[in-house]
Parts: sequence; structure tokens; C-alpha cells
Amino acid sequence: MARKKMKILVSAGPTREYIDPIRFISNPSSGKMGYLIAEYAKKIGHDVILVSGPTHLKPLEGVKLLKVETAKQMQNEILKNFPKVDILIMAAAVSDWKPYRKFKTKIKRKKQWLLKLVPNPDILKSVSKIKKENQKIVGFALETDNILKNAKKKLKEKKLDLIIGNTPNFFGEGKKSDVFFIFNDGKVLKFKIKKEELPPKIFEAIF
Ligand code: C5P
Repeated sequence: MARKKMKILVSAGPTREYIDPIRFISNPSSGKMGYLIAEYAKKIGHDVILVSGPTHLKPLEGVKLLKVETAKQMQNEILKNFPKVDILIMAAAVSDWKPYRKFKTKIKRKKQWLLKLVPNPDILKSVSKIKKENQKIVGFALETDNILKNAKKKLKEKKLDLIIGNTPNFFGEGKKSDVFFIFNDGKVLKFKIKKEELPPKIFEAIF
């Protein structure tokens, strides 16, 4: 059966939050999950926009790539593009904090100093405020403990249609691990799958 062609916005990769012109705080996200989702969405015939933090991955053919570094830049691109899409899949590992200011020049070596961090904007929370009835939002929750409880809390707080709960076992490729799909009507599905097997499951779940 032919599916309706949709516009899909996907985020991927880490963000970088600069301390000075040279140093930043970040995380080891490879961006692979978001790129796999974007690639699959394109393959099944959708229009795809990929907002990507810094990764070593090759741009995907036929996918519009918007490169960003900081969470603020990612938020700007997502908020700008969200109104024209049907679905947002937020697979980026957004840094929860950023340095309270970016120093203009390279900070000189010193024995000890305190770096003050302030929270970054929650991109999904800001998107949920402009969400229309016919749009869907999918988020991820990487949890080290109480996966279902924590993921359900995030689903509610960020007003998502679906949250995909996983654990650090999901890092890397080629390894099967437990993945939970938690829907906003309370339904929960559990899979033991590899990262590469996830994109078709997401599209089956949201259509
Ligand atoms: O970091 P956290 O576990 O809250 O991430 C859950 C979901 O929220 C993910 O889909 C992530 O991309 C998104 N997120 C966000 N803005 C942040 C932090 C996370 O949109 N500042």
C-alpha cells in the first residue's frame, strides 16, 4: 500500500557548548541513530531535513542537512523548520548544560578554577508549544536506571507522541539491546534489537 509522502525533521549527534574559542563540553554521541532514521525515512519516500550536531558521518544523499554546533543553534533550526513538517524525531544528544559565558580569548592554564554551568533550553519543550494537532513528535530517553519510569516522565513533560527508551548498551552498533516504545496513550512495546533495526519500527509505530 502506498504511504502518504511526509515531511520529516530529524535531529542527530551531540551539541558543543563552548567555554572559550577552543574548548567546549560535549558528549560522545556519534550521530548514527539520527542518520539511520533520516536515511530510512528518505528510502521509504519521505522528504527529510536533518539537523545535525558535529559528527564524522557522511551527508546523506537527497537529505537536506543543516549543520549546527550548540544547543541554541539546534533549537533555532528546529523551531524554524518544525512548522513545515509532519513529524519531528529528536535523536540528538543535546547537552543539558552550557558554560554560563563563552570567554572571548583562550583561557590561560591555571591550577584550579570553577566552571559555572547553566541549563540549556529544552528543545522539545519549546517545540511542544507550537505543535499543531496533526503533527507528531518522537523523542528518545537514554537511561541508566528506572528506564520506564524516567522515560514516561519525559514523555509527559515534553508532550511527546512516542518516546523511545534505551540504555547505554545501545551505544555502538551491531549489538542487540532492550528498547522500549512508550506511547502517549500508555501503550508500551518492548524490543530486543540493534540500532540498525530501529528506524522501520519507528515508522511502523507512528503511521
Ligand atoms: O536529555 P534527555 O534525556 O532529557 O533527552 C530526552 C529527549 O529530549 C531527547 O529526544 C533529546 O533529544 C531531547 N532534548 C531536548 N533538549 C534538551 C535535552 C534533550 O530536546 N536540552
